[in-house]
Amino acid sequence: MQEIVRQLEEKRSRARLGGGAGRIASQHAKGKLAARERIELLLDPGSFEEWDMFVEHRCTDFGMAEQSIPGDGVVTGYGTVNGRLVFVFSQDFTVFGGSLSEAHAEKICKIMDKAVQVGAPVIGLNDSGGARIQEGVASLAGYAEVFQRNVMASGVVPQISLIMGPCAGGAVYSPAMTDFIFMVKDSSYMFVTGPEVVKTVTHESVTAEELGGAVSHSTRSGVCDLAFENDVEALLQLRRFIDFLPASNREKPPARPTADSPDRIEASLDTLIPDNPNKPYDMRELILKIVDEADFFEVAPGYAGNIIVGFGRMEGRTVGIVANQPMVLAGCLDIASSIKGARFVRFCDAFNIPIVTLVDVPGFLPGTAQEYGGIIKHGAKLLYAYAECTVPKITIITRKAYGGAYDVMSSKHLRGDVNFAWPTAEIAVMGPKGAVEIIFRSDIGDAAKTALRTEEYRQKFANPFIAGHRGFIDDVIMPRTTRQRVCRSLAMLKDKDVKNPWRKHGNIPL
Ligand code: HXC
Repeated sequence: MQEIVRQLEEKRSRARLGGGAGRIASQHAKGKLAARERIELLLDPGSFEEWDMFVEHRCTDFGMAEQSIPGDGVVTGYGTVNGRLVFVFSQDFTVFGGSLSEAHAEKICKIMDKAVQVGAPVIGLNDSGGARIQEGVASLAGYAEVFQRNVMASGVVPQISLIMGPCAGGAVYSPAMTDFIFMVKDSSYMFVTGPEVVKTVTHESVTAEELGGAVSHSTRSGVCDLAFENDVEALLQLRRFIDFLPASNREKPPARPTADSPDRIEASLDTLIPDNPNKPYDMRELILKIVDEADFFEVAPGYAGNIIVGFGRMEGRTVGIVANQPMVLAGCLDIASSIKGARFVRFCDAFNIPIVTLVDVPGFLPGTAQEYGGIIKHGAKLLYAYAECTVPKITIITRKAYGGAYDVMSSKHLRGDVNFAWPTAEIAVMGPKGAVEIIFRSDIGDAAKTALRTEEYRQKFANPFIAGHRGFIDDVIMPRTTRQRVCRSLAMLKDKDVKNPWRKHGNIPL
C-alpha cells in the first residue's frame, strides 16, 4: 500500500510538472501561463476535480516509447465558476507542444460526453501545435472524434474556446464549431495554413500575428469574438461571461439578485435621439441605461460595429441584446452584421435567453460589394434566425425602421411578442428623400415642390402611428420608461411556450 501511494505521488508530481520546469519557464517568458495555472485562475479556488492524470500516449514510433508524460499534454476535469458547474480542458504546450494524440483526444472527449449528459458548459483552453505528428492518422481520428462531439453538443451545452497559443491547420475547426471564441493578443493565433505556406502558394508575406492573431480575427475575419491583452484578463473575463449563460438548453438563464429596480426611470433617454434625423447617437448608451447595473457583456465589439450584440440582465435574468448602432454605417444591415446578428440570435434561442432588439435601421447597405458578396443570402440569415426563434422577443424602435430591415429586426410579423416604439420612431418603406424621388419623380427639378412633398411624406410616415393603427406596434412609450416596460414584458413572457412544427432541421441559408 505504502509503495503504491509513493508511486501515486510520484506520478502526480510528474504529471503536475508537465514538460518540466524549463519548458514552464519558457512558457512564462512568452507571457503565457502554464495549463494548470490557467485552470486555477478560471475556476473557483479548490473546486477543480481532475480526471485522467495518469493517461499516457500509446505511440511507439519515432522514439516515443521512451518519452511519455502522465496526462499526455492536456489537463481535463470539472469545477465551478462562481459556484456553477463547468467542464474544462487545458492543453499543455510544455508536453509535445500541446499536440493532440489519440489519448489526448480521448481525454477531451470524455469530459465533453459527461458535460452533455449532466448539462454543463465545456470550456476549452487551447494551446497546441495541432495533430501529434508522430501518431499520424490516429491523431487525425482523435480530432474528428472531438469535432463530432462539438456538433452533437452544439445547442445542448454552451461551448467556449479560449485560444491561448498556436491553433493551426484542421485543429482550428474544433473551436470554430463552438459558440464563442476568445483569443489572447500577441500569444495566440489561428489559421488553416501558416505564413510559410501562404508565401509559397500566394507569394504574400505576412506574419503569424497579421495572418491569424487576435486583432486580425476580432476585427477583420470575425472568427474571434473577443481579444484580450493577456491570459489573466482573458480568464477573468471568461468567468464574468459564464455568469450570464445557462448551463444547458434544459435550463432557463441564471438569475442574480440585483438592487437595480425594474421601475427605474431614465429621464436622460428622452433626449437621446437628436433632432436631426441624420445625426448619429450612441446606441450603447441606451443599452447601458436599461440593463441591470449598466452591466453589459458585449460580444464581437470590434467586428461589424453597425450591429451590437451581447448579454445583459433585466431584473436579474440574462437577456440577449441585439441593437443597430447608428454610429457605424448609420446602423444599416450589411453582410457582416447580418451574420453576426444571426449567430447571436440563434445562440440565445438555443439556450432559452430572451432577446431585446433595439431598432434604428435605415435599411440594407447598397452597392456592388454587398450584392456580389451575397447580401441576399447573408441578410436572409438574420431574417431566418429571428423568424425561427421562439424565446421571448421584445422590440423597441427608437428611430428609423425602414424597408426590409424593419421586417427583419424582430418585427411583429416575425412573432415579436412585444413591439414598442418611441415617439421618434419612423416606420416606412424608405426615408422621405428617397421616397419622394421615386414617387414624385416628375417634381425633381422643382426644389420648392420637392421640399413640400418631402415634408408631406415626413408628416405621414415619420412617426409610429401608422404601424400603431394596424397593431404592428403594441404601444408608443416614453424613452424614460423603457427599462420598466421591458422588465414588465419579460415578466409577462417568462413562461412563454411556442413550438415550431416538427422537422429534422430547417435549411438556414448558409
Ligand atoms: C508533435 C510537436 C508538434 C506536433 C510542436 N511539437 N508541434 N510535437 N506534434 N504537431 C513539439 C516540438 O517538437 C517541440 O518539442 C515542442 O513541441 C515545442 O515546439 P517548438 O517548435 O519548439 O515551439 P515554437 O517554436 O513555439 O513553435 C510552435 C509551433 C511549431 C509553431 C506550434 O512547433 C510548429 O509549427 N509545430 C507543428 C505544427 C503543425 O504543423 N501541426 C500540424 C497541423 S495540421 P521539443 O521536444 O523540441 O521541445 C493539424 C491537422 C489537424 O493539426 C487535422 C484535423 C482534421
